[in-house]
Amino acid sequence: MWKGRFSKATADLVQQYGESISYDWRLYKHDIAGSIAHARAQVKAGLLNDDEFSAICEGLQTIEKDIDAGTFEFSIELEDIHMNIESALTKKIGAPGAKLHTARSRNDQVATDTRLYCREEIDTLTALISDLQSALLAQAKTYAAAVIPGYTHLQRGQPVTVGHHLLAYVEMLDRDTSRLADCRKRVNVSPLGSGALAGSTINLDRQQIAEELGFDRVTTNSMDAISDRDYIAEFLFAMALIGTHLSRLSEDLILWCSSEFGFATLSDAHTTGSSLMPQKKNPDVCELTRGKTGRLYGNLVALLTAAKGLPLTYNRDLQEDKEPLFDSIDTLKIALKVNSEMIAEMAINTEACEAAASDPLLLATDLADYLVKNGVPFRQAHELVGQAVAVSVDTKTPLDQLDLTQISDHYGADAQAVFNLQTALAARTNPGAPSVENVEAEVARWQQNL
Ligand code: ARG
Repeated sequence: MWKGRFSKATADLVQQYGESISYDWRLYKHDIAGSIAHARAQVKAGLLNDDEFSAICEGLQTIEKDIDAGTFEFSIELEDIHMNIESALTKKIGAPGAKLHTARSRNDQVATDTRLYCREEIDTLTALISDLQSALLAQAKTYAAAVIPGYTHLQRGQPVTVGHHLLAYVEMLDRDTSRLADCRKRVNVSPLGSGALAGSTINLDRQQIAEELGFDRVTTNSMDAISDRDYIAEFLFAMALIGTHLSRLSEDLILWCSSEFGFATLSDAHTTGSSLMPQKKNPDVCELTRGKTGRLYGNLVALLTAAKGLPLTYNRDLQEDKEPLFDSIDTLKIALKVNSEMIAEMAINTEACEAAASDPLLLATDLADYLVKNGVPFRQAHELVGQAVAVSVDTKTPLDQLDLTQISDHYGADAQAVFNLQTALAARTNPGAPSVENVEAEVARWQQNL
C-alpha cells in the first residue's frame, strides 16, 4: 500500500509484530459499512460515477459474504482489516477499488470502525444486563419476604429480606446501564473525514456519512478525532465496574452456598465437583466471575497506560486499544449470560435463612429505638442496650430472654415485644428500607421498568 518510497520489503518479524488482522478482522462489517457510506459521499462529490459506486458496493458485499462464510483469505502482509478488505476489493473490481481510499486514512477509518463496533456491543451488553436484572428480580419476587440477616463487616447487623438483598444488585446494574448509555453518546460521533490528522483538501459531506452510519454528529477537531480513545477507556471502565458488581454478587453467593451459611443452593448445572473429594459441589462460576473481573481491570489499565504519553495525533501504540477492548467485551458477555442462567436456577433455603435471622441480636438496634421512643437519648440507649448484650453474652442467655427491667428502669414490660422479627421488619417502611411491603413495591416498580 505504500511501496512508492520503499526499496525493501517489510521484514517478516515486523509483519508478525505489527499485524492486527488476527484480531481486528472482527471489525469487518463496520469497515464495510463505513466504506459504502464513504463511497456514497464520493459520488455526491463527483469523484465516483454510479457504475463505479455499484461496483464498489457489490464488491464489498461479496467480501462481507466471504468473510461471513469463512472463505476469505486474510493476509498478515496486509496488516489489518482495512487493508485486507481494500486490497481484496481492488483485486476483484479493479480501478474503482483504487479510488475508494480518496480523502480517507486508516486513522479515521479505524476510529470509525471501532466506534461503530463499540456502539453495537454497548447495545448487546445493555440487553444482557437487563436479562440478569430480570433473573434477579424473579428471585427477589419469590423471596420478597424471606428474612435473612443483613451484614456489615460480615457480622450480623439487622434483618433484611432475600428480595431486598437481591434488588440491591438490580440497582447496581441499573447504574451500569445508564453509564453505558452515557458512554454511548460519546461513542456515537463520526470521525470519518478527519483523514490522517488534518482532514483533506477533498471535501466529502461528513454529515451525510455520519447520518448513513447512524452517528449523532460529526467530530469537530480532526487531530482530536484521530487520537481520541476516551470512548474506549470509558467503555472499559463501565465494563470494569460491571465486573465489580458481578464479583460482589459472586462473593455473596459463594458465602450463601457454604455449609456455614447454607442460604442458597446452585443448580448442579452451574456447579462443579472435585476430582478427589466426592462430596464437593463448588461454585466455580462465581469464582470465575470474581477472577475474571481482574482481567476487566487489567484491560482498562492497559489502555490508559498505552494512551497516556502519546503526542498528538495517531501513533501506532493506539493499535493496542483493540485486544483489551475485545477481551473485556467477550469476557463480560459470557459472564452476564452464565450469571443470568445461574441466578434463575438458584434455590433459596428459607429454613436456613430463618434460622440465621432468628438471632435476637439482630434486633439490638430496634431495642435502642424502643428506648428512644420512651424518651431516652440515643447515645444513652445505645449504651444501655450494649450493657444488655454484654449480660447476654456473659450469661449465655439470648437477648430476648433477659429480664431487661433488671438492667434499667427505662425498659417496660413491653420491651420484650421488640423481639418479634415480623413486626421489626414491618416497621422498616421508610423509602429504601426492607419492609416486605416496600420490597414488594420495589419488585413491582422494577417489573414496570425492565
Ligand atoms: N491497524 C491500525 C490500528 O488499529 C490502523 C491504523 C493504522 N494507521 C497507521 N498510520 N499505521 O491502529
